[in-house]
Amino acid sequence: MERTTFNVRVDSVRDEAHGVRSFSVSRLDGQPFDHYEPGAHIDVTGPSGLMRQYSLCGDPDHRDAHLFAVKREDASRGGSRALHDEVAVGSELTVGAPRNLFQLAPGADEHMLVAAGIGVTPLLSMAYRLLRQQQRFVLHYFARCAEHAAFLPLLSRAPFSDYVKFHFGVAREQLDAVLGDCLAGAREGTHIYTCGPAPFMERVVAIGETRVAPEAIHLERFAADPAPAVSGESAALDAFDVRIASSGAAVRVDKDTTIVAALASIGIEVDTSCGEGVCGTCMVDVVSGAPEHRDHCLSKAERASGKVICCCVSRATSPVLVLDL
Ligand code: FES
Repeated sequence: MERTTFNVRVDSVRDEAHGVRSFSVSRLDGQPFDHYEPGAHIDVTGPSGLMRQYSLCGDPDHRDAHLFAVKREDASRGGSRALHDEVAVGSELTVGAPRNLFQLAPGADEHMLVAAGIGVTPLLSMAYRLLRQQQRFVLHYFARCAEHAAFLPLLSRAPFSDYVKFHFGVAREQLDAVLGDCLAGAREGTHIYTCGPAPFMERVVAIGETRVAPEAIHLERFAADPAPAVSGESAALDAFDVRIASSGAAVRVDKDTTIVAALASIGIEVDTSCGEGVCGTCMVDVVSGAPEHRDHCLSKAERASGKVICCCVSRATSPVLVLDL
């Protein structure tokens, strides 16, 4: 499958917080970017050749530029380091078209955005849209201290300042109580959105679920957690067959390979990006069979339906999985 990419020029680079730098890019062909909904992310291929996903954090109604922010991760494989160290105004990068697994819920009465650290980025884009639409919302922003809070000057002044509450230096043992206060006003019709480290989001979800239905809680992950996203003992088969609904072609997926790799071996390319079950690029509809979900991006409802699978990491608990390809 062809992935849409754009060659872009870096128009500005800004230090937004300790170890966090933002990049504003525009298309080399001078065209505006396509419309996207807040919460979307893009693939960015930097100087190291590594492709990473970053949330768009600018105003989604400004199509001349894409803004994304990168936290320098010295322990990572070098994608963020290369962007920090080697990219300057005038550099050229390749970006993908926006994809979105983290959209604002239409029809919500109120939106509670709960960010930690660099997790503020998709929520900032949502805040722009909610402001423009004059919807009820609040953005709770947790950071170690002011120096670690990206976009602090922007969020501290009008029009955002009336909607943003900062929580700096909250200790782990205080977190539940503070989150409880933040979410105390949530009621039916409220939707909660969270982005940040996995343990933080787990607490937001746990506390949020005492106030609103699970479907009203939305989260965005930045990277796969070390543990697979399956609960309890895995029921996945060591080997199973994947069949293509359109042609009937089939291929065995043994325990050392992925559905994506097995399909590639018979000439069927599934578009991928993160390869870790985070971004949703490789999502395919399931016609029949039972997926075992090992991704980190499908919603609870999507998992329960069994109608969709992320082919880069997930497997099957049935001997045959028929995919809508
Ligand atoms: S490629 Fe990102 S979820 Fe599969």
